[in-house]
Amino acid sequence: MVPEPRSSAAAQVLVASNRGPVSYSVGEDGELSAKRGGGGLVSGLSAIGDEADALWVCAALGEGDREAVRRGVAEPGVRMLDVDAGAGEGVHAAAYNGIANSVLWFVHHMLYQTPLEPVFGPEFRAQWAAYEQYNRAFAEALAAEAAPGAAVLVQDYHLTLVPGMLRELRDDLRIGHFSHTPWAPADYFRMLPDDVAEQVLRGMLGADRLGFLTGRWADNFTECCVRLLGGTSGTRIGVHGLGADADFLRERSRRDDVEERLRALREQIGEGRKTIVRVDRTELSKNIVRGLHAYRQLLVDRPEWRERVVHVAFAYPSRQDLAVYRDYTAEVSRVAAAINSEFGTEGWTPVVLHVEDDFARSLAAYRLADVALVNPIRDGMNLVAKEVPVVSDEGCALVLSREAGAYEELAEDAIAVNPYDISATAVALHSALGMAPEERAERTKRLAAAATALPPTQWFLDQLHALTGGPS
Ligand code: F6P
Repeated sequence: MVPEPRSSAAAQVLVASNRGPVSYSVGEDGELSAKRGGGGLVSGLSAIGDEADALWVCAALGEGDREAVRRGVAEPGVRMLDVDAGAGEGVHAAAYNGIANSVLWFVHHMLYQTPLEPVFGPEFRAQWAAYEQYNRAFAEALAAEAAPGAAVLVQDYHLTLVPGMLRELRDDLRIGHFSHTPWAPADYFRMLPDDVAEQVLRGMLGADRLGFLTGRWADNFTECCVRLLGGTSGTRIGVHGLGADADFLRERSRRDDVEERLRALREQIGEGRKTIVRVDRTELSKNIVRGLHAYRQLLVDRPEWRERVVHVAFAYPSRQDLAVYRDYTAEVSRVAAAINSEFGTEGWTPVVLHVEDDFARSLAAYRLADVALVNPIRDGMNLVAKEVPVVSDEGCALVLSREAGAYEELAEDAIAVNPYDISATAVALHSALGMAPEERAERTKRLAAAATALPPTQWFLDQLHALTGGPS
């Protein structure tokens, strides 16, 4: 059944994403409280708030969100979907954990390891059916909320089927889709079962326009379409390299809570020592364990750095419903502890690992870092690489994986590494630590300029206008 557009509440601009800009929790008194979320997607899409008649459609993720949906509580301009309430218990978990974060994430970041992975059997098929249901719930909600001719901007690998489904329901809409991840090369993408690979591509091609973070990911997508479907059927493809939000970061990183954490970190590191900083969600594509091994290699190959450097690693747990992410989180702690027991002395802890998510402390670490280590196996963009140079107090050398999307824009002033090569990463860390302060400051200035070339608001508006034919 085709849902009727709501005539009174019809939105002109809609965004659809799995994680929305707000999450709810239920207090001990039974009251609901709302918290605004962080992250690149939220900061980029927050520009929607400036558009009249805008609506952000997202999934209800936890118990608090589901309770908000049950009670009919909503932030202005946000509609949360409790997919399980309409489609059946466990649909969201199977779609999000089973397909999005286990299969599609692993394909696009090329994380599968033979001989055990991947396995596309009956369990995968059940999860794929849930993914279809989940995408259909979004398509139906968007079809019901959109005004005639409205622009709909669908986000990410969670919702690849939505453009095609929505096109069938509402041919009048202008539909865009943006991928925040890399896109796999065709030879790797073809690991997916043929019908699923084709469904994903056809679902995406239901959009008028597709956006990617770099030309490399866009080219991979096009190659997949040419090889598997014979072409992109006239869908336009654009590249929008999301940049750091300089105004927000500079103001936020000077607040009292950041100053307080700066003092605490300095104390923990110790007087006169250099710091190598990394900040990541703990998941396999970030390559945290190899980063730790590279740091260990530095201490072995260059003993002169012992006692003189500290690796400050913030690794914030993510997607902990999945065993593979939990195991990786445990491995990060294990390797950090092993380095500390191998090299640590009474007055020196070589690795300072923090796992509780604290944005103010991340900003404090960005400010004091001498070296930032960003070594993902693959990454759509990596905003940490762009944020550090913006807030750095005295300049920071950037050791950057050539497989991060950000590398396309920052290559000239970063020290490039092959993320698999631990020995070369150790050498890069040594060069970064030894970089002269003037050179470091100069490079940081240029990195900050490149990193802020396309601020989040402009990033969003460029896509919207490209879709609607508005000002460019
Ligand atoms: O990189 C893709 C992405 O969806 C980002 O937009 C987001 O910051 C990240 O993954 C978060 O993932 P999750 O919502 O699973 O925590």
